[in-house]
Amino acid sequence: MINFDSIKHVRGESQFVDDYIPYEKILYGYVFYSPIAHGLIKKLDYSEALQIPGVKYVFTYKDIPGENQVGGIIQDEELFAEHKVEFVGHPIALVVAEDFLTAKKAAKKIKVEFEELEPVFDPRVAYEKGSLIMPPRVFSLGDVNEAWSKCDYIIEGRVDSGAQEHLYLETQGSIAYPIENDSIKIYSSTQNPTHTQRIAARVLGLPMNKIEVDVLRLGGGFGGKEDQATHWAVMAALAAKKLKTAVKIILPRQEDMRLTGKRHPYSSDFKIGLDKNGKILAYEVTFYQNAGASADLSPAILERTLFHTTNTYYIPNVKATAISCKTNLLSNTAFRGFGGPQAMFVIESALFKASKVTGIDYHELQKINLLKEGDEFPYGQRAKNCRAQICYNTLEKIYNLPEVKKQINQYNQTSRFFKKAYSIMPICFGISFTSTFLNQASALVHVYTDGSVGISTAAVEMGQGVNQKLIEIASKVLSISKSRIKIETTNTTRVANTSPTAASKAADLNGFAVMEACEIIMGRLKKFAAQLLNVKEDNVQLIDESVYVNNQKTELRWNELIQKAYLSRISLSAQAHHATPDVYFDREKSKGEPFAYHVYGTALIEVTVDCLRGTYKIDSVKVVHDLGESLHEIIDLGQIEGGIVQGIGWMTMEEILFNEKGKLITDALSTYKVPDIFFAPEKIEVHFLENAPNPFGPFKSKAVGEPPFMYGIGAYFAILKAMLEFNPNMELNFKAPMTNERVLMSLYSKIREKVHQTIN
Ligand code: MTE
Ligand code: HPA
Ligand code: MOS
Repeated sequence: MINFDSIKHVRGESQFVDDYIPYEKILYGYVFYSPIAHGLIKKLDYSEALQIPGVKYVFTYKDIPGENQVGGIIQDEELFAEHKVEFVGHPIALVVAEDFLTAKKAAKKIKVEFEELEPVFDPRVAYEKGSLIMPPRVFSLGDVNEAWSKCDYIIEGRVDSGAQEHLYLETQGSIAYPIENDSIKIYSSTQNPTHTQRIAARVLGLPMNKIEVDVLRLGGGFGGKEDQATHWAVMAALAAKKLKTAVKIILPRQEDMRLTGKRHPYSSDFKIGLDKNGKILAYEVTFYQNAGASADLSPAILERTLFHTTNTYYIPNVKATAISCKTNLLSNTAFRGFGGPQAMFVIESALFKASKVTGIDYHELQKINLLKEGDEFPYGQRAKNCRAQICYNTLEKIYNLPEVKKQINQYNQTSRFFKKAYSIMPICFGISFTSTFLNQASALVHVYTDGSVGISTAAVEMGQGVNQKLIEIASKVLSISKSRIKIETTNTTRVANTSPTAASKAADLNGFAVMEACEIIMGRLKKFAAQLLNVKEDNVQLIDESVYVNNQKTELRWNELIQKAYLSRISLSAQAHHATPDVYFDREKSKGEPFAYHVYGTALIEVTVDCLRGTYKIDSVKVVHDLGESLHEIIDLGQIEGGIVQGIGWMTMEEILFNEKGKLITDALSTYKVPDIFFAPEKIEVHFLENAPNPFGPFKSKAVGEPPFMYGIGAYFAILKAMLEFNPNMELNFKAPMTNERVLMSLYSKIREKVHQTIN
């Protein structure tokens, strides 16, 4: 069960957008962008750029035949800034030249004069000033105001989490060229081909049937190409149409980091109330989301934050307010977990602080409040097939928690500067697009006359292995060898009106669509075989490429059956559309059943902190994870391992910094660190929860893409616990990422104060 892409990847044979040479003459685009965070464009002069030999054209908003508008949920984002720039990196023009370096050189000659305006970077300040993407949203359950009086403990605090760079290996890019009938074909590295098509049509002033978007695969997306692949694709299309040849735009790494949005940083206030036994009675929280300069997917991400307010706990009284704040930073966007991790970091911080005040162990508090079957989430849905407790209990048992604690205690007693600690992180993640209409997908399946099969769906392969999963599904339903099946590119002319490959739903949605399309073809083949063999259709089976009658193998094989069916004019193609049944959400009331199901799991994370240097090591991550019945265990394991490491990166070493003028200063791999093989946990052990079929997934599977990311949150608290072992009087504040620097500063804050006092 290997992933059929692996061999090509290792040999360097896999193609990415930058490898395509689909046209004789290719021009190259370079994006000219704002150097300031906020200001009015007073004068733009690109005449000198045009003089440079090899430069073909400089595009600005004036060259747009349709609308200068790329906003999805809210139409608040211009493709090229017209009169106002709102962040450093805001595209103003596109220089197109015969080669990339010429285009880049020419862009340096563009002169622009601004009238600078005061920028806002802090979401709380933006909120004070009334700078919002949309009105605040509130989710509530029970009545917090009534509940406070019943609490024995009430604890308040503030939590901050940082941005995160997607750092997909393949940077953003696209190549577009004109085709017949005034149409444009776009190859794009996008998770969202239909969105790219729709926006290109809007900007170019063309109907959607004149834009074809094709995606072979992505070198990673992680949410960063759900909405923000569009800009470059649309710019390339615009230029291709005007210049009547192919135009390629590939963002160099540094520009990719400077021009595209990240995970949303959040600043949050919580108030949590517990009774004397540690039961949470009330939780009130306000999330300030730093959306950046435009809406992009922020409203949907904000909503998912609200959905995951209580993580995997039952809290009878909840009031959660979420505010999307408009600031003069890059427009932040989807990133694995889609706002969920930000909420889950806050509730874990609240529990952690509560443990210090109540004296009840943090993990005891987790267990006391763990979700049970039938418990109501703040959005009205009730936990069904709830596996929160079983995952937690299985973890404690199979990884022998008492022994882990004992070993850590022993170590800490004898070690002065190195301290060890563990933390447990239970998760519960809702599976479905929270915008109900997106929960649909289609598949188009062709069986060719030689018995080989081609499948097109809406799913985009981006390393998560969805194509291999679709092959598994088709091979099961058609009962043929996997080697006969090929997954075609994702193309808007073959499968239209698609949802993005996102929300961990691609294998679920497209898997069901493939299943249904294959079943249609199988139905026809069975009927035809029955006629051919002169038996009743009910007695015919197709198993392992052979026709069986009454469980007896006949001479008729797949190849021959297909040949004969074709000659008898039986259709060997089918299209199927799948929509997740029964999901809905009433945005007015903020209640409904938005999720088809939830993914549960629990992780145990062990760390060692060097309290002299502030450095740390992730010793191990051990997980019990609920996959339902896995469609492909190796791929799922890869998703879990990758998610964990990416989540730990977000919580620990990955720090996005801007200078006081809003310029990104962590815009290269020398200044932005992600986990590498040396930092990755020494040991990752994953136990798939057994006997846990999921009635709502294809072949009883569960989605896997995003949930494991949130295990990484446990690393933060493990490090914090180790720090408290060293300095129990350390001031507690919840600010991520917990970089080495922050570890050191926190451990010695009192000493620093003293030193300052002495000096002064
Ligand atoms: N895994 C790899 N290798 N590359 C990616 O870009 N994206 C993640 C996750 N795993 C990603 C990945 C995100 S953000 C999502 S939503 C899911 O994959 C999407 O794919 P799926 O729906 O097929 O799980
Ligand atoms: N998850 C990921 N992407 C999305 C969602 C979601 O819930 N809704 C819209 N785009
Ligand atoms: Mo994933 S953030 O839903 O692309």
